[in-house]
Amino acid sequence: MCGIVGGVAERNIVPILLEGLKRLEYRGYDSSGIAILDTEEQIQRIRSLGKIKNLEQKIKTIDASNLVARRRDDQNFQGKIGIAHTRWATHGVPAENNAHPHICNNRVAVVHNGIIENYQQLKTQQLEQGYRFTSETDTEVVAHCVHRELVNVINNITLSNTTSVSPNVTPTVIPSEAEGSPTDNTQQQKILRQAQDDSDLLLQAVTNALKHFEGAYALGVVATDDPDTLIAARKGSPLVIGVGIGEHFIASDVSALLPVTQSFIFLEEGDVAKITREVVTIYDVNGEQVERPVKISNLTAHAVELGEHRHYMHKEIFEQPQAVIDTLEGRITQDHVLVSAFGYEAEAIFKTIQQIQIIACGTSYHSGLVAKYWFEDIVGVPCQVEVASEYRYRNPVIQDNTLFVTISQSGETADTLAALQQIKLLKKVKNIPTLTICNVPESSLTRESDLTFLTHAGPEIGVASTKAFTTQLVALSLLLTAVGKSMSLMSEEQEQKIVHGLQKLPGLIRKALQHEEKIIEIAQCFAERESALFLGRGTMYPIAMEGALKLKEISYIHAEAYPAGELKHGPLALIDEHIPVVTIAPHDDLLEKLKSNLQEVKARGGQMIVFEDEQSNISSEPGFRVIKATTNVGRITAPITFNVPLQLLSYHVALIKGTDVDQPRNLAKSVTVE
Ligand code: F6R
Repeated sequence: MCGIVGGVAERNIVPILLEGLKRLEYRGYDSSGIAILDTEEQIQRIRSLGKIKNLEQKIKTIDASNLVARRRDDQNFQGKIGIAHTRWATHGVPAENNAHPHICNNRVAVVHNGIIENYQQLKTQQLEQGYRFTSETDTEVVAHCVHRELVNVINNITLSNTTSVSPNVTPTVIPSEAEGSPTDNTQQQKILRQAQDDSDLLLQAVTNALKHFEGAYALGVVATDDPDTLIAARKGSPLVIGVGIGEHFIASDVSALLPVTQSFIFLEEGDVAKITREVVTIYDVNGEQVERPVKISNLTAHAVELGEHRHYMHKEIFEQPQAVIDTLEGRITQDHVLVSAFGYEAEAIFKTIQQIQIIACGTSYHSGLVAKYWFEDIVGVPCQVEVASEYRYRNPVIQDNTLFVTISQSGETADTLAALQQIKLLKKVKNIPTLTICNVPESSLTRESDLTFLTHAGPEIGVASTKAFTTQLVALSLLLTAVGKSMSLMSEEQEQKIVHGLQKLPGLIRKALQHEEKIIEIAQCFAERESALFLGRGTMYPIAMEGALKLKEISYIHAEAYPAGELKHGPLALIDEHIPVVTIAPHDDLLEKLKSNLQEVKARGGQMIVFEDEQSNISSEPGFRVIKATTNVGRITAPITFNVPLQLLSYHVALIKGTDVDQPRNLAKSVTVE
């Protein structure tokens, strides 16, 4: 999804903005842009389609041509205040004219994440007012609206100053302006400068403009009329302020700003912030000035660097043993799960619940599906799982005493957040405690839930989720135990077995990672294939779904997952020698049934790739390529461990196909729009 970075400093802001944009690349984007106020306090903007390096190249070209022309240094693309953006197209095709920042009348520049839902209506009004549009985006109405409000604020100041300052000045009429054709009155600008010290021109203009918008936004705004001020506003899309010494920044997430600061203010819903070099002043949704705490991030700039790996996805797959250790730390003892890991009131809450409703999207939804098997098989607690985009738009029946669990890597997924907000309305009449399992502290889901469990996977940059999924499963196994214990549905022996299994998990994952060479060989089978099937039974069915999702999203090979027992009800018709069938075969109660399903595939000439437990004893034979991916995994550790070779398989198929592994086409990391 789109990314915002901005800042106001004593030094040239351009390299900071460019570095920030690169660090936001992982969110997914199709174009980028940057706008600064130059040394003459004029807006300069550069935008580019495609990768940030294209934008960087354009900036270098401008700088180089200025040098050749022996122009002064300060006429290069430099400034001390600016905003920048990576765009992921929602309204309007990926194109340079649709890229942000959007500008109005060379006076106002805006970057925006989210969607202005009433933009058509605003656009119609603005066209009537004489504004011209140069893009198909919803964001351009924001730039025009701020401009109009700015002119109104200025007119009011001018009117109240005209008698004392200059009797000849008449208020400005809202101009019928094209983008980039300033028409403003210089005398008025002078008066304004005098009044500016005691006024908050841009803050007032943005605050007034926000009243017109329906939908979701994170905004960064600069204007020539108030050249030392950067305005940030948030509603429905995340925005953080980076606090420096004599400099301040904004960004969609902390990772963009780690090279310049580790101190952050997390804006809350409805907040508007006036940001200058020296001061950050925040106003809440009611317009009251508020203090928001400055939090120190324990992330370092290094945590989001690639290191020796070719791709973030590869790095993150190999970080999984450590991610599990970090997620377990402080949450378990030698033999027990600490219920308080879910919050000090968790035990009291868990005692009251009768069922669980899990809501999530994509990969996070798959972790919820695994948990459904665990909750119902192991502790007998009814558990429903549904994708958020469906749940939020139907009228679900939710029983009293339901624990409502959202799962999300980012904590900002719009559908998941909307489902949670819908449930919060019911909390007045029903006991529906909410818990989020999330990887990003201070994200919207963590702020809106009663209980939070943070997975400590560290920043996940690859668009395809890997270590976040693994740690979500770890979190869910802890939740299973915490709920089971609190409801007296789990024996101490069962708890110990789970805890001891989890303690072995980092080692099991390391062992699974050692099969990379064999997986590279197998990946060759997919090079010329257009489709693949993934089969599993029990908890391996959601793992098959996750394997199929990973393969399709990064290699663009169509892949589908089926419960192996469902083959004969239709998908068997697809089987021939051209379709690889990936199967996960743990040594469990369903193994014999699974073996029969595999024979059905073999009899139709299917090419099987089987990831098995050493004890499963499926032998390699024509039509069967078997990888002994693990050994002695338990009920909880099996799905987590078997998922690892599937991640590696997708990764290596994508390498062979030459796709953009970390930023697959059309996808975004954090899906903050519907
Ligand atoms: C797939 C993937 C997506 C996300 C989904 C939910 O690899 O990453 O399917 O899982 O967009 O995102 P979060 O977990 O951030 O809510």
